[in-house]
Amino acid sequence: MTSYIPPSKNQSPYLPFGDQRGAQFYGKDILSVNQFSRHDIEYIFGVAKEMREMVTRIGTFDLLKGKILANLFYEPSTRTSSSFTSAMERLGGSVIPINEVRYSSVSKGESLPDTVRTLECYADVIVIRHPEMGSAALAAKYASKPIINAGDGVGEHPTQALLDLFTIVSELGKVDELTITMLGDLKYGRTVHSLSRLLTLFKVKLNYVSPEILRMPPEIITELKSKGMVQAEYNTLDPVISKTDVLYVTRVQKERFENQDDYESVKGTFVITPEVMDQAKDKMIVMHPLPRVGEIAMEVDDDPRAAYFRQMESGLYVRMALLAMVLGKA
Ligand code: CP
Repeated sequence: MTSYIPPSKNQSPYLPFGDQRGAQFYGKDILSVNQFSRHDIEYIFGVAKEMREMVTRIGTFDLLKGKILANLFYEPSTRTSSSFTSAMERLGGSVIPINEVRYSSVSKGESLPDTVRTLECYADVIVIRHPEMGSAALAAKYASKPIINAGDGVGEHPTQALLDLFTIVSELGKVDELTITMLGDLKYGRTVHSLSRLLTLFKVKLNYVSPEILRMPPEIITELKSKGMVQAEYNTLDPVISKTDVLYVTRVQKERFENQDDYESVKGTFVITPEVMDQAKDKMIVMHPLPRVGEIAMEVDDDPRAAYFRQMESGLYVRMALLAMVLGKA
C-alpha cells in the first residue's frame, strides 16, 4: 500500500509534474517587495495577464473553489479590501470580511497573534492591513497559513507596488531606462516605500519631489543607494516634469501627522493640473495609489496619460495571481 505523502511547502499538489514554476510561492507569506526577484516579477505578471484575459472572457471561474480568504483590516480601505474580495470571488472562493475590527473581538482587547491564530482555523489565507509597521511580519510569525501584507503602517504595501509595476509595464511596455518621479508624502507613504524598493530590480532613475518635512526617509535612500539606484531630491516639480516618464503622485496623509498644524502647512503644496500636464512628455503617465484628496485636479482625468483608474483595475488581476500562487494553483 502506498501511503500519502503530503506536499512540501514548496511543492504544489495541484500542478502537474514538471510544471512547478509557481510552486515556490505555495504556502508563502507576502510581506515585503524585498522578497521578489526580477524573475519572480515576470512570473507574477504572466499569471496576472492570464487572469485579466480570463476575467475579460468569462468573468468568474473556479480555480480557488472551496478556498476561503480572511480579509482583516484594522485601517480603512476601499481598493485593497474590495479588490482582494473580488479577486477571491472571481476565482470561485469565498471571503470572511473583517473590515471593521471594532465589531470583532479585537475591540475586547484580543491581540494580533491570537486574532490570526483564530482566523486561520477558518480560512486558507489571511490578508491584513494594520497601522503598525512590522504587524504583517508579526502575524506571519504566529500563523501557519499564508499572510499577505495589505499595508503595515508607514512600512510597506507590497501588493500595491506589484500592481503599480504591472501598470507601468502595461502602459509603457518596459521599466528599464525610465525616469520615475514620486511626488507628495514620501515620508509616510508606504506605497512609495515599496515601489522604490521594487524598482531596484530595474535600471531606472528616481526623482523625489516633496515638501521638506515629507522627504523620503534617509534610511530608504541609503538602502536604495547601496543597490545602485540613481536618486535625486527636489522641492518643486518644475526641474523634472519634462524629463519624467512616470509621475507617481501620493496623498498627504492627514492621519499620519502627530501635529495637525504640520499637516495644514503642507496639504495642497502640489496639485497636478492641465497646465502641469502641458509641460509633460506626450507619453508620460500619471499614477496615484488613490484615494486622492485634491492633489490631482479632476480636469486631468480625461487626459489619456491619466493612468490611475487603469492602475486601480490592475490591482484585481495582480491580486488574483497572488492568491492563486500562495494557494498553489498558479
Ligand atoms: N491604494 C490603496 O491602498 O487604497 P485603499 O486604501 O483604498 O485600499
